[in-house]
Amino acid sequence: MTRAVNDVPTTPGPADDSATVQAPVTAPWWTTAVGYQVYIRSFADSDGNGIGDLPGINGHLGYLELLGVQAVWITPFYPSPMADAGYDVADPRGVDPSFGTLSDLDALVASAHTRGLKVVIDVVPNHTSDQRDWFVAALAAGRGSPERDRYLFRDGKGSDGSRPPNNWTSVFGGPAWSRVDDGQWYLHLFAPEQPDLNWDNADVWADLERTLRFWLDRGFDGFRIDVAHGMAKPEGLPDAPEGTLAASGQPTLPRTDMAEGTATAADGSAAADSVAAGESGGVVPSAPAADPRFDNDGVHDIHRMIRRVIDEYPGATTLGEVWVSDPERFARYLRPDELHQAFDFSLVESPFDATRFRQAIDSAAVAATSVGSNPVWTLSNHDVPRPVTRYGGGAVGTDRARASLLVELALPGAAYLYNGEELGLPSVEVPDDKLQDPTWERSGHTQRGRDASRLPMPWEGDEPPYGFTEGMSTWLPAPAEYATLTVERQLDDPGSTLNLVRTAIELRQRNPAFSGTEISWYGAPSGCFAFRRDGGGLVCALNAGDTPIALPPGSVLLTSAPLVNGELPANAAAWLIP
Ligand code: NOJ
Repeated sequence: MTRAVNDVPTTPGPADDSATVQAPVTAPWWTTAVGYQVYIRSFADSDGNGIGDLPGINGHLGYLELLGVQAVWITPFYPSPMADAGYDVADPRGVDPSFGTLSDLDALVASAHTRGLKVVIDVVPNHTSDQRDWFVAALAAGRGSPERDRYLFRDGKGSDGSRPPNNWTSVFGGPAWSRVDDGQWYLHLFAPEQPDLNWDNADVWADLERTLRFWLDRGFDGFRIDVAHGMAKPEGLPDAPEGTLAASGQPTLPRTDMAEGTATAADGSAAADSVAAGESGGVVPSAPAADPRFDNDGVHDIHRMIRRVIDEYPGATTLGEVWVSDPERFARYLRPDELHQAFDFSLVESPFDATRFRQAIDSAAVAATSVGSNPVWTLSNHDVPRPVTRYGGGAVGTDRARASLLVELALPGAAYLYNGEELGLPSVEVPDDKLQDPTWERSGHTQRGRDASRLPMPWEGDEPPYGFTEGMSTWLPAPAEYATLTVERQLDDPGSTLNLVRTAIELRQRNPAFSGTEISWYGAPSGCFAFRRDGGGLVCALNAGDTPIALPPGSVLLTSAPLVNGELPANAAAWLIP
């Protein structure tokens, strides 16, 4: 007997269960936008040095228009020694020469706005570069100085202070403390080149406010806030209870061999609590509540300060990177006087599994709406293995990634795509001698880090670097595997992932079936699900099982794979209007 998504009414009616996904009454742009993350180093290079840059982005805004997204999030372009690919910021109000100039940035914002695109940029309030003037001054000024008080310097343990002040580990592996010449230690939750700021110091607060205003005054539309669950540290910096540092509390920083179903934390420890690995692999989960490094209550006052500043700039928004898995604790970041929005990583943390996806969607919806916010869906970013790879790689991984995109884009709320996701790019492993992620060195060459998901965008042509640069080399290799996945090729192929995403975004923007802020779930065979948007009536069905399923009657708007005898094949999703 054919399995079918059953009980889908032809007119809106009661369903078996419902999740509420409510946007604020007047819905500003950021509550429904499809955003696009540009990883600046890997998007497009204009000057031949093999590193993506601001003019490169500006030259490709037409592509974003073609794609149909409404916002672009640009990763850090600030002056940086690049110990962590720009997340080690030496000057939060400047531009690194390798990316261009302030004028390039102004031109980019103006051009984006002309095209109706909002521009969101990163701020990095948890730490700075060790090359920032503040940290250089802190080293020079010595122990007990006001300069050192902007960071977290402490004396070590033991009679000679030679042991770190506590047992915290760095997200990138190894201890979270480094010792300086005069014997003191400083805290860095990430690389040693990224000293953590002391958020009990007034200069640190004033500096972030200055940075926010600097960019808002230049016309930016908002901020993605890096490690938004970091910043505040517990009084006395106590040792972490045993076992609480096993999961990194941060993006996965994973190996890319996730299809094997083994996840390992960036600190080198086994991710014992990782999501069920299963056939689709898993990722390291968010911070456990007891991990003292993250999600300390003091962080909320910092978000309130940020909100007060942003509220002076109508239309501007904040989007937090909050790796906190407990939905109630996650929701605290979204209270009306804190972040406007936060990425919900529950889909990223889920294998390709209908039950797990449904749980992720429900928990995200409840968390955000319990405090009057709305979810921001994401399947991918520069810190995690690409979906195609997470879901098993090859044709199956691609099919699943396409299906997942349709699920994501059917949901009420905002959604962010990561550059190259719209091309169905897989993560491709980088040779040892080309690896750049600090995780590689910090883990003693046991964790390859995130480079495999950060490779240059393939634009055109049959050979590397596929139009990414006119130079001879690229900062990470452009792999042979991308030859058939270029933008140029996919534009010409009606069945390409790029054209699937374009069509999906266009439908989502223009078709009234996508209205409404709530979804209802329907009965469906095991391994499958279907939900309906209660406002406009769009139905999204996912078949994550292994045999085809019959779809309910209705007109099919879009499918991630061709129907087979009118049925939805395995590893596919469909949009329809009953
Ligand atoms: C999160 C960023 O996404 C990641 O790339 C970076 O390494 C850490 N925060 C530290 O800034």
